[in-house]
Amino acid sequence: MTKIAIIGCGNLGLSLVEGFIKSGEAFQLTATRRNTEALEWLEQKSVQVTSDNIKAVKENKILFFTLKPYRILKVIAELSPYFTDEHIIVSTATGVTLNELKQHAGQTTNVFRAMPNVAASVGQSATCLSKNGADALKLEQVKKVFNAIGETVVINEELMESATVLGACGTAFALRFIRAMVQAGVQIGFDSKTATQIANQTVKGAAELLLSSGKHPEALIDTVTTPKGITITGLNEMEHQGFSAALIRGMITAYKKIEESK
Ligand SMILES: NC(=O)c1ccc[n+]([C@@H]2O[C@H](COP(=O)([O-])OP(=O)(O)OC[C@H]3O[C@@H](n4cnc5c(N)ncnc54)[C@H](OP(=O)(O)O)[C@@H]3O)[C@@H](O)[C@H]2O)c1
Repeated sequence: MTKIAIIGCGNLGLSLVEGFIKSGEAFQLTATRRNTEALEWLEQKSVQVTSDNIKAVKENKILFFTLKPYRILKVIAELSPYFTDEHIIVSTATGVTLNELKQHAGQTTNVFRAMPNVAASVGQSATCLSKNGADALKLEQVKKVFNAIGETVVINEELMESATVLGACGTAFALRFIRAMVQAGVQIGFDSKTATQIANQTVKGAAELLLSSGKHPEALIDTVTTPKGITITGLNEMEHQGFSAALIRGMITAYKKIEESK
């Protein structure tokens, strides 16, 4: 059994817990937050629910801190007397550096930053992971846990803010794209439910094509477009209206927002 505590189990924490449960792996889970009422249903899924962070630290080796950035360092500092060399600390807080985490965590060297996304709840997170000082074995342990809820990429810490925009905010960007497809689908004749079903599966299929072929999106687009055809006419009109530019500018603005708030 791998014992994991999710400290500060809100939106992201819950996505991780749901993913760990569905993964079927031998995880023994503890979830903490101050107001535990919202987590009580997890007890039926054999998750220990508590507001006692110290107990969670004492009883678990892998500790996920899914707290808000403005809160995480204070909570880690409060818990630092209970950390041992056996503990693995994983922070998902945007903008909080490994150095800051280590300073507040005391002697513990096994500190990681991770940027998963909410698709962890269905085993499909794109998780970026970076480490500072932890040994290769501990890195493998953390990767193995994240691999149970999606794909994991190890990156240098300086790319963590970029990972936030591409991987975590990216979920919302992709969802907005799908919503726009549905709206267009309704305008050209489908009811909303059917349009959603078709759009969701089409986007899932496009992503699967990319993942299984390893090809560049444009190479696959070439296989769908016919000279003077319908697809290329639609694609070019989207570009005239600034489709790619809007997406790129939105992502760069989101990135700048993280940099500004440091
Ligand atoms: N949402 C995403 O898609 C996403 C993706 C990647 C990374 N992140 C990062 O993950 C972090 C969490 O984001 P979120 O959206 O999940 O925030 P959230 O929903 O606010 O979750 C944080 C939770 O921490 C709990 N909490 C606060 N103080 C606590 C304490 N002293 N002890 C235990 N629990 C405490 C809060 O519940 P109580 O008030 O009941 O204690 C709250 O439910 C952020 O740093 C964010 O940057 C989020």
